[in-house]
Amino acid sequence: MQFAELKWNNQQPYSLDFDDVYYSVDNGLAETDHVFIHHNQLIERFKQLVTLASGSPTFTIIETGFGTGLNFFCAVQHFLAHAPANASLQFISTECAPLTLADFTKANQHWLVFNKMVSELANTYSQLTDGLNKLSCCDGRIKLDLWIGDINQTFPQIQTAADAWFLDGFAPSKNGDMWSENLFQEIARLSQTNTTFSTFTSAGQVKRNLQAAGFKVSKVKGFGRKREMLSGAYL
Ligand SMILES: C[S@@+](CC[C@H](N)C(=O)[O-])C[C@H]1O[C@@H](n2cnc3c(N)ncnc32)[C@H](O)[C@@H]1O
Repeated sequence: MQFAELKWNNQQPYSLDFDDVYYSVDNGLAETDHVFIHHNQLIERFKQLVTLASGSPTFTIIETGFGTGLNFFCAVQHFLAHAPANASLQFISTECAPLTLADFTKANQHWLVFNKMVSELANTYSQLTDGLNKLSCCDGRIKLDLWIGDINQTFPQIQTAADAWFLDGFAPSKNGDMWSENLFQEIARLSQTNTTFSTFTSAGQVKRNLQAAGFKVSKVKGFGRKREMLSGAYL
């Protein structure tokens, strides 16, 4: 397995492999809240989860690019705060170059609010192997399927549809594999009517690929210095 090559700027990770930041250097947590939590309407949707005749409700988020896990931890924190106690969260993510355990721990030390979850996951995170890794925390209410490998190889193996997508590769100009037309066909295969998505980028090619794959796409206000971003739903 190939680990991510990083440098650190003010305790924030920077990818030497892709020459890009993992998240906004101004405030990564606030960016995740704005781009991924707010624009997938997650707090409202978590509150509305209701017990089904078939059993406890599960909400599924699929992410492109696990990185430091910031988006995962942030989604979990909101889920625990707002979803009914019998509901569970299935978070599926994929990563071609995971952070080493030391880098994963260092990156997340920055966010004190996640420290307990990070320690809970550290043991299984340290044993990641290529392919599917099944992690869980918070008394089994949170399940993390972390696929290690190139997204174009791992995504075709996923069989669970998403309720919401976090589209979070590096910038499209630096990370073409994460934003290809083929990948959006996979994203469509794993979507159902009203599956939502959001992404920090407003690149025209990403917008067109999402539309061609069957999504209604809106340009909305981006986080901080980013003027625009994309969000929407599968029709
Ligand atoms: C912007 S970062 C993700 C940030 C992350 N969501 C977080 O919360 O920290 C993009 C991630 O996508 C991963 N990535 C890039 N190309 C990939 C590919 N072809 N397959 C799988 N992962 C890839 C990178 O290694 C990086 O960790």
